[in-house]
Amino acid sequence: MNLNEQLIQKRKDSQLGGGQARIDKQHKQSKLTARERITLLLDEGSFQEMGMFVEHRSTSFGLDKNKIPGDGVVTGFGTIHGRLVYVFSQDFTVLGGSLSETHAEKICKIMDLAMKNGAPLIGLNDSGGARIQEGVVSLAGYADIFYRNTRASGVIPQISVIMGPCAGGAVYSPALTDFVFMVEDTSYMFVTGPNVVKTVTHEEVSSEDLGGAKSHAEKSGVTHFTSSNDVSCLKEVRDFVTYLPQNFGELAPTTSFTYNESKKEKIDQILPENSSLPYDIREVIDCVIDDHTFREVQQEHARNIVVGFARLEGRTIGVVANQPNALAGVLDIDSSRKGARFVRFCDSFNIPLLVFEDVPGFLPGTDQEWRGIISHGAKLLYAFSEATVPRVTVITRKAYGGAFDVMNSKNIGADLNYAWPTAEIAVMGAKGAAEIIFRKEIAEAADAEAKWKEKEAEYAEMFANPYKAAERGFVDDVILPSETRAKLIAAFNSLENKSEHLPNKKHGNIPL
Ligand code: HXC
Repeated sequence: MNLNEQLIQKRKDSQLGGGQARIDKQHKQSKLTARERITLLLDEGSFQEMGMFVEHRSTSFGLDKNKIPGDGVVTGFGTIHGRLVYVFSQDFTVLGGSLSETHAEKICKIMDLAMKNGAPLIGLNDSGGARIQEGVVSLAGYADIFYRNTRASGVIPQISVIMGPCAGGAVYSPALTDFVFMVEDTSYMFVTGPNVVKTVTHEEVSSEDLGGAKSHAEKSGVTHFTSSNDVSCLKEVRDFVTYLPQNFGELAPTTSFTYNESKKEKIDQILPENSSLPYDIREVIDCVIDDHTFREVQQEHARNIVVGFARLEGRTIGVVANQPNALAGVLDIDSSRKGARFVRFCDSFNIPLLVFEDVPGFLPGTDQEWRGIISHGAKLLYAFSEATVPRVTVITRKAYGGAFDVMNSKNIGADLNYAWPTAEIAVMGAKGAAEIIFRKEIAEAADAEAKWKEKEAEYAEMFANPYKAAERGFVDDVILPSETRAKLIAAFNSLENKSEHLPNKKHGNIPL
C-alpha cells in the first residue's frame, strides 16, 4: 500500500465506527448512524470532517485494546442551504457514543470555531453518557462543553438534536442550548433513569414515559420540537435554521414569499360574536403572515401561549400570542416561562417581535401562587421590558389587568401597539368589575340581578372597547382585522433601523 492508499484505508476504518454489526443494530432500532445523519443534515458534499483520526488516551479496563479512530463522535463543518454550520454527531456504535476526554475535546474544538466564525452549532446526541472507564476526565470533558454552551449563548444559535439516549449530567448541554429537537420512540432524556427512580421513589416508569419525546414536549417543555423519525427530524432542522441569523451581529436571511390575498377576508371571520367564546389564535397568525411560514415552538407545552417563528414579506419575525383556545389564554407559570425564553432568544438574535394579545389575566389559585407565579410571571415581564428589537402588539380582544402590562404594552417599551375594534382593555372583565365596585348598590337594589346586569353594561360601555386606551395613547391606532398585515409590514419596515441600548451594566438579574 502506498501512502495515499494507506490514508484511504485509514479513512475507511474510521468511517466504519464500531463495525458493521453495531451499525446493523442501530438500523434495526430505526436509528441512522452518526455519518448518515450528517449527510442528511448538510448540503450534499459540503461536510468537512475534523478529527477523524483522534483516539482516546485511556488505558484502564482494557480500553488500550479498544481504540476506534474518531472516538465516538464525528465533528466538522458544512453548509445548510449554503450557510455555514458546525456539527457534531455522536456515534453510538463506538462504545455507546460515550463521552471520553478526547471525544469532548473534539466537540469543544468545533464549538470554539463556531464562536470565532459566527456560525450556528448543531449537536446530534446519541450517547450512553460519560465513558464509565475514564472516570473524572470524562466528567471534566462535559464541564468543558457546558462552559462553552454558556459562553456561546446569545452569540451563536445552538441547536441540540436528541436521537438516542441522553442521560445523567449529559442532559445539561442540550438544556443550555437554544432549541432541542427529539425523535419519538428512539430518544430519551433524563437526569436519573427508571432504575434509580424506582430505587429512590418506588415509582415504576418506562424510559419513554419518563423522558421520551412526548413527555418532554407536553409536560416538561424541555424539547421544542418532536419528529417521528431521524429523517423527518433532520429535515425539520434544515428548515428551521433558515429562520435564524448566523450570529448575534447579523439579521436572519430574507426569502421569497407568497401571500394568499383571500386570507385578508378570512381574518374577519375568526373572532366569535360572543366574546366569551374561544378561537384559535393560530388562524389569526396564519392570516397575517406569509403563506405556510409559521414554525411553532413548544407546540404541545403550555398551549395557552403560542410562540414561534414566521415571515412577513420574507423576513423572520418572532410571534408571541395568547391562545384563547387553551385555558382562555390565561397567563400561568408554564406559559410565562415559555414566552420569556422565546422573547429572549429573539432579542439575542435581532428577530423582531410580534405579539397578539387576548388575555383575561393571570391564573388564580393556590397551586400557581405557591409555585411562584409571581416570580415566573415576572420573567415574561422582564423579557419584554429588556428586549430592544422592534416590538409590535396587536390586541385582538381582552387585555385585562397586569397581563395587559406584561404582554408587550407601550409602557414596557413596545414600539407600536394596535387594537382591533373588538379589543377590551380594562383592569378586569365587566362582570367581575361591576360586582366589586357596585357591590353596595347591587346588594341594596330590589332586583339585584338586574342591577348587576345594568352596572356590568355600564362598565363594559366604558372599557370593553379600544377607544379609552387609544384616547390615552396606550394603543397607537385602532385597525380593522383585514388591515393587520399591511399595518404590520409598514410597522416593521419603519422599525428596521431601530437602535436602542440597555443601560450600561454587567448583566441584568432576570427573576429565575
Ligand atoms: C462506556 C458504554 C457506555 C458508557 C454504553 N456503553 N454506555 N461504554 N461508557 N457510559 C457501551 C456498552 O458497554 C456497549 O458496548 C455499547 O456501548 C452499547 O451499549 P448497550 O448497553 O449494548 O446498548 P443498549 O442496550 O442500547 O443500551 C444503551 C444504554 C446503556 C441504555 C445507554 O448502554 C447504558 O445504560 N449505558 C450506561 C449509561 C450510564 O449510566 N452512563 C453514565 C451516565 S452518568 P459493546 O462493546 O458491548 O458494544 C453521566 C454523567 C455525566 O453521563 C455527567 C456530566 C456532568
